[in-house]
Amino acid sequence: MNTEAETLARPNAARVSVALGARAYDIHVGRGLLARAGELCAPVLKQRRVFIVTDSTVAKLYLGPFIASLSAAGIRADHVTVPAGEASKDFAHLEQVLDAMLKAKCERGTMIVALGGGVVGDLAGFAAAVLLRGVNFIQVPTTLLSQVDSSVGGKTGINTKAGKNLVGAFHQPRLVLADTDVLASLSRRELLAGYAEVAKYGLLGDAAFWKWLEDNGSAALAGGDKAHMLLRQCIVTSCEAKARIVATDEKESGERALLNLGHTFGHALEAEMGYGGALLHGEAVAIGMILAFEMSLRLGLSPAADITRIRSHFTSVGLPVSPPKRGPRGPITPAMLVAHMTQDKKMKDGALTFVLARGIGKAFLTTDVPASALEATLQAALDG
Ligand code: GLY
Repeated sequence: MNTEAETLARPNAARVSVALGARAYDIHVGRGLLARAGELCAPVLKQRRVFIVTDSTVAKLYLGPFIASLSAAGIRADHVTVPAGEASKDFAHLEQVLDAMLKAKCERGTMIVALGGGVVGDLAGFAAAVLLRGVNFIQVPTTLLSQVDSSVGGKTGINTKAGKNLVGAFHQPRLVLADTDVLASLSRRELLAGYAEVAKYGLLGDAAFWKWLEDNGSAALAGGDKAHMLLRQCIVTSCEAKARIVATDEKESGERALLNLGHTFGHALEAEMGYGGALLHGEAVAIGMILAFEMSLRLGLSPAADITRIRSHFTSVGLPVSPPKRGPRGPITPAMLVAHMTQDKKMKDGALTFVLARGIGKAFLTTDVPASALEATLQAALDG
């Protein structure tokens, strides 16, 4: 058994593989990976050049060192920077990014690199999917949320007037570099929003991991070296879970939809609140998971004790457990949220698909939810 000092000193890069045959790829998780970017990216490059898409916040912090690491390995890098924030995930910025790639004379063999959080990953990945009918890309996620969810699995896309992520493509990256050192620059609120997606993996299919999070989650979020090790464990376990699901159901014809636990409710709340930062995606997902378990309880599927545990753990780390009562349009009603839900791309033959649970770690998909149960769950949460 290692002493704690030995554990903390151990070189801590882990590798998780996504088994997709000829399109298989590795996710590296650990410290100092940005500084090793050249060495880690080189084996998957067809040309010794890349084109980086990043945002204004990440560019200030990491673009220089990242390019320096590539350059030390003899890799040339061009780049484009979009404004930080969800508003960049639109047609106008997709056009800007594609124009910049074409102006830089990117070829089919040029690797695109997404250096940033979920917005940059989705935008750059979609640009890579359509540039010259498809070029390879690497994800270098710089938020906890993108390290545990959006950078893995190949979902890319943009938002349109009709809703989030309704235009996009499945396009798998060739490599994911999740440098855990960058998490130190996140605000507590952003870190927590990512933690909601970590918790999702426990709630949807791994009760033992959920118990581990109850025991270690607060310490993982506390900052410092020991927290860093725990957070890395959160990321590795999350990526392993996601890699396993993506490998069995890449295009979401079945099991992958379990990863949407809390998202049908969450997306509706985000749409109602606007995307200006009043409610972060991870916060909306946390509330959405509470609502999914509340609805499961109401339908007699999940025990009351489990929702109590979830509420208690979320509250103890500082995640929200109830929906906002008012949005930019005034008081929020169940009908307003249901209207957003019916725009969701997960509609099947006109029916909403929900991820419900028979308890912690036992999520399942159903289209069989009476409208009255949905409305009652939303009303109770909005009244609470
Ligand atoms: N974020 C859900 C998925 O990748 O399927």
